[in-house]
Amino acid sequence: MKFFIDTANLDQIKEAQDLGVLDGVTTNPSLMAKEGITGKENILKHYVDICDIVDGDVSAEVIATDFENMVKEGEELAALSDQIVVKLPMIKDGVKACKYFTDKGIKTNVTLVFSAGQALLAAKAGATYVSPFLGRLDDISTDGLNLIEEIRHIYDNYGFETQILSASVRHTMHVINCAKIGSDVMTGPLSSITGLLKHPLTDIGLEKFLADYKKGNE
Ligand code: E4P
Repeated sequence: MKFFIDTANLDQIKEAQDLGVLDGVTTNPSLMAKEGITGKENILKHYVDICDIVDGDVSAEVIATDFENMVKEGEELAALSDQIVVKLPMIKDGVKACKYFTDKGIKTNVTLVFSAGQALLAAKAGATYVSPFLGRLDDISTDGLNLIEEIRHIYDNYGFETQILSASVRHTMHVINCAKIGSDVMTGPLSSITGLLKHPLTDIGLEKFLADYKKGNE
């Protein structure tokens, strides 16, 4: 399973990249705003800065909601780097734009997906990635993991190549359960990746190994 980090924070992206397990980055307009990145020029430059840190795909979301402007914006984003994946909302014009970019060989990520039907449409339009929002479904007492399982099942039935990018991952158990289901990618905060490191028996064991080494080498 690929690990993407879901942030526009350059320090966190660097930290995940330095760990050696990062496969890409996802951003959205809220995450950009959280970092204080505003204005077209600054936003475009920030995407380039992210691409300079990571080796993999970087999802950059369009703001437009109509086909023509989605295409215009997406083409501008895609021109920044081969790493850019044009992120499009799961609405009618988003599906049309997805097909347009697919035909042009530009990578896409269809976002804000909350049902198996939406995921099926994204795959039909040739999306590179589909982003079901696991955590936001859990937030409203709906089983987000069940949606990931349904999409996996449907995609496997027909051999769709669209990669399931489990989004809105909030913690380590989401990551582990996504891996069990066979999600292709997960995107979450840095803590959902670094949290996987932790086990008290590892810390206790290491402390004992080092203490025993010290005793025998004093
Ligand atoms: C997906 O690409 C979104 O950026 C993201 O995963 C949403 O996560 P949230 O529900 O924690 O905001």
